[in-house]
Amino acid sequence: MATKGFVALTAIGLALGAAVWAAKPPRTGGKVDETSISDRAPTFYKDVLPLVQEHCQTCHRPGQIGPFSLLDYQSARPWAKAIKSAVAARKMPPWLANPEYGHFNNDRSLNQAEIDTIVAWANSGAPAGDPTDAPPPVHWPEGGWTIKPDVTVDLPPYPVPATGVMEWERLAIPSPFKEDTWVTSVQILPGAPSVVHHLCFDFHNHKPTTPYNVYEWVEVPRDDAGVSKIHDGSVQAVEGTVHTRAVGSTGETRRQGRPDIGGGIEYCYLPGLTFEDYRPVHAGIFVPARSDMLLNIHYTTNGAAVMDRSRIGFTVAKVPPAKKFVHQTNGGEGDESPESPVGGQQQANEKLAIPPNDGNYLGPPTDITFKKDTELVSLRPHAHVRGKSVRYTLIYPDGREKVVLDVPHYDFNWQLTYRTSLKIPKGSRMQVQFTYDNSRSNKYNPDPSNWVYYGGQSWEEMGAPFLGFLMDRNAKEEDVLEER
Ligand code: HEC
Repeated sequence: MATKGFVALTAIGLALGAAVWAAKPPRTGGKVDETSISDRAPTFYKDVLPLVQEHCQTCHRPGQIGPFSLLDYQSARPWAKAIKSAVAARKMPPWLANPEYGHFNNDRSLNQAEIDTIVAWANSGAPAGDPTDAPPPVHWPEGGWTIKPDVTVDLPPYPVPATGVMEWERLAIPSPFKEDTWVTSVQILPGAPSVVHHLCFDFHNHKPTTPYNVYEWVEVPRDDAGVSKIHDGSVQAVEGTVHTRAVGSTGETRRQGRPDIGGGIEYCYLPGLTFEDYRPVHAGIFVPARSDMLLNIHYTTNGAAVMDRSRIGFTVAKVPPAKKFVHQTNGGEGDESPESPVGGQQQANEKLAIPPNDGNYLGPPTDITFKKDTELVSLRPHAHVRGKSVRYTLIYPDGREKVVLDVPHYDFNWQLTYRTSLKIPKGSRMQVQFTYDNSRSNKYNPDPSNWVYYGGQSWEEMGAPFLGFLMDRNAKEEDVLEER
């Protein structure tokens, strides 16, 4: 079957002059109202629409993950009661950081006055008000994008079966960049979000041994319940029975050995995690000409066969940005980027063993040492359905401790990136502590009666801190971090 030509590249013009900040609509727009809200009932156009533009529309518009649109009064009105209870309970917008700690520049939560406004609006019959009070509409990019991509990549269509355990699969495709490029934002648009557990990739220099357009995965020995029999802290077997299948074909081959494709979990779609944007911190990621994109794809079957057609979009810089953005990658497992700042795993994963019915299991802590002054700009905690809480504590060289992120109620359904700006002096350490709930009271727990070990399936566990930081454009990543 045709294995070429699946990677359709669309250059949407490099007209980048005016940065597009669609992800963060302007706050201004309405006239200043002398009457305070308490003197009159809030209306949709005057009081509620500006709030939903800023806090809700990224997800609540056609084609996005929110179950209804909040673009206009007609579509919002039937949901007024549900909106009131969702915002009053701080369930919406999804934001899990404890407000007592840290400061996040993508904090999308509503403050108390904003919640009160929405509640008062719903309580007074959800009036529309005067349409001329409405702020100008936000111009969201076409095609479901939130960033407005300059370059897009269509991944090959993937037929996801109705049932069965699917392993993490790898796929290599040529990157769309024929010249050295600074990428300033990345969005991965899942075609069928209900089955995409994760879709990640990173860029690597092309190796002649890397085959294009072939899915490759290593068999993981599993028991009848689908639980991996490997408890050595690895999620993908490094070697074993390697399966391959060409894009567009159903024929599978098997061989013993190691997979040919490495990579790639630096840039990810995960439920709730929609895009990465380095423009607000004047940074980009450097992609050498003719790199490969190594994808790591994990589907979770959900009872109905579907065809996934996922896409990846990039904005690119015309002139090199001031700073280089660098992820702390997971390391290990074929992810042998020589640039990677950390070798090995995030946690001592082989020590992760959660007893049955344990409602408050302390995961193995992660301890990261910074080898140079740096600026931390993002934190992206990742655990699976038994993840209960996570806390990041920075320990300065003089022993002072500071909690930089506290998530008291971790939620697997919301994989959020917390963006910040924190100068970290050389010699500091970051301790990351996850807790897990393997009890019956965790409503997402598929089975409280079993031990749970480290693994790549959502019914197994992990705890990854995923830090992102800024470096000088020409610095080397391994100079910054060290993990113990
Ligand atoms: C990051 C994406 C995202 C943002 C931002 C967001 N929502 Fe949602 N919302 C969702 C998704 C997905 C669902 C369905 C799944 C769920 O209920 O968790 C949902 C569900 C809801 C529901 C239904 C809840 C229920 O109990 O059935 C309401 C009401 C709602 N959102 C209102 C809002 C409002 C109001 C805002 C802004 C103040 C907002 N959302 C912001 C993604 C989002």
